[in-house]
Amino acid sequence: MKSWLNQDLISALDLDADNIMHLTNLALVFKRFENDTAVRGSLKDKLMGSLFYQPSTRTRLGTEQAIRWLGGHVQGFSGIEGTSVEKGECICDTLHMVGNFNCDVIAIRHPLMGSAQLAADYLKIPVVNCGDGSHEHPTQALLDFLTIWEKKVLEQGKNLDGLNVVFAGDLKYGRTVHSNIITLSKFPNINIGLVAADQVALPRQYLRLLKQRGVNVTDFGTDLRAAIKKADVLYDTRVQKEWFDDTKLYEKVARALKITPELVGIGKDSLIIMHPLPRNKKVREIDYSVDDLPQAAYMDQANNGLYMRMAILYSILNPLSARITDEQQTKPQPQSVLVKKPIRGGRRKKRRDERLPDIISGTVLDHIPAGKASEIVYLIKDSTDAKVEYAEGLKGKNGTKDVVKVRGQIDDEKLLTKIALLSGRITYNVIEDGRVVYKANLRPPKMITDVVQCPNPRCVTAPEHDEKILGRKVYNLGKLLQCHYCGHEASRSEFSFI
Ligand code: NCD
Repeated sequence: MKSWLNQDLISALDLDADNIMHLTNLALVFKRFENDTAVRGSLKDKLMGSLFYQPSTRTRLGTEQAIRWLGGHVQGFSGIEGTSVEKGECICDTLHMVGNFNCDVIAIRHPLMGSAQLAADYLKIPVVNCGDGSHEHPTQALLDFLTIWEKKVLEQGKNLDGLNVVFAGDLKYGRTVHSNIITLSKFPNINIGLVAADQVALPRQYLRLLKQRGVNVTDFGTDLRAAIKKADVLYDTRVQKEWFDDTKLYEKVARALKITPELVGIGKDSLIIMHPLPRNKKVREIDYSVDDLPQAAYMDQANNGLYMRMAILYSILNPLSARITDEQQTKPQPQSVLVKKPIRGGRRKKRRDERLPDIISGTVLDHIPAGKASEIVYLIKDSTDAKVEYAEGLKGKNGTKDVVKVRGQIDDEKLLTKIALLSGRITYNVIEDGRVVYKANLRPPKMITDVVQCPNPRCVTAPEHDEKILGRKVYNLGKLLQCHYCGHEASRSEFSFI
């Protein structure tokens, strides 16, 4: 299990099952001994920067109360009114200021997806994501897990194995759902049910994640009745009005699902109903009359927020928590786009196609999938003045291929990464005196910086938001690319070259 000391909490992906259980048990200890003097002084004089750019009640009050309860202090803002953000300040400049105030940790909530990751990359102190746009909300998922553990395992004596957790409402924009899906998928044999209108269905990347982890998923469409019969936990959510452009569509979707005592009555006696809150008083996705039923767990869930945030902040800031580590933190090593290959034979073989004369000195890109050469030539010409020639549809070992020859050296990593992203099969040959002196496969590295732009318009890196970005990073997942900031996954062709 990795130590949490001085670590960021940006995504539920940062947590493994041991971390989740450790934080759950610690939160339960804090809940039981909240008035103990040792607990109340355990983060004495630690300072938390609390940057809430977006409305919040429970998360902000719970997080601020948590550090105060442990002996620490808070400074920051709630809403951008009265701050320089109103004057057009970018996130990094605000963070710079807060960082200079000797904060020990930052709690941030911001409407843009990926903003918490940007903060973590920019600052040396740990950052806790308290909700970044419609991306993630990991502290909420942890307090939700604590509630499930407390109610189902400790109170009802049930097991997580075989538990049926149904998510209903806004699965598209509901960041709490995304983080919950990730945390629950770390435990074996939890079954997930989904209830949502098509317009707010769970994004494909979370479905892919559940499939990869072998989680049993049932899509109930909008059939809440069928879902509730099966559910051990029904996790309902508010339809997130703030992300809808079309008010009529919002109204339709928001009113599609409603939890009433009659509906709860058809569920199991042991069913618990959860909701991250707030619920919308006009829509009342959970009717007020459900509140007094024994199944209603959402108020206890909200109370658990304090204890879980105490556990999170303690783990990040109290040096004693470092004792839980038995795993070294390893940083990923930067990789080169060139993966060296042995050079076979001596003299270069006689060229097979008269259309493309041999070059004495320069670079040859070979095994380009047929039809792709012109795109590559375009990229090369954009970054160098060297003379470029190409031939299409040559005969290769595995069918037809294109070849590009450059009278000059091309060694710019960014250019080579772009070429590698067009196809993983291309080989790179350096020619001197008519001989191949270096040969490599072009393979996009695992982490790609400043080569492509995330296509998600709500990502903090989208040019229209004018944020200062320290490096537009994406992960190469093979067929797909994933944005380092907002987590958006899509095919390479959806990411544009920078
Ligand atoms: C949620 C949020 O902000 O994502 N609320 C919360 O943190 N308790 C859910 C919501 O706003 O609907």
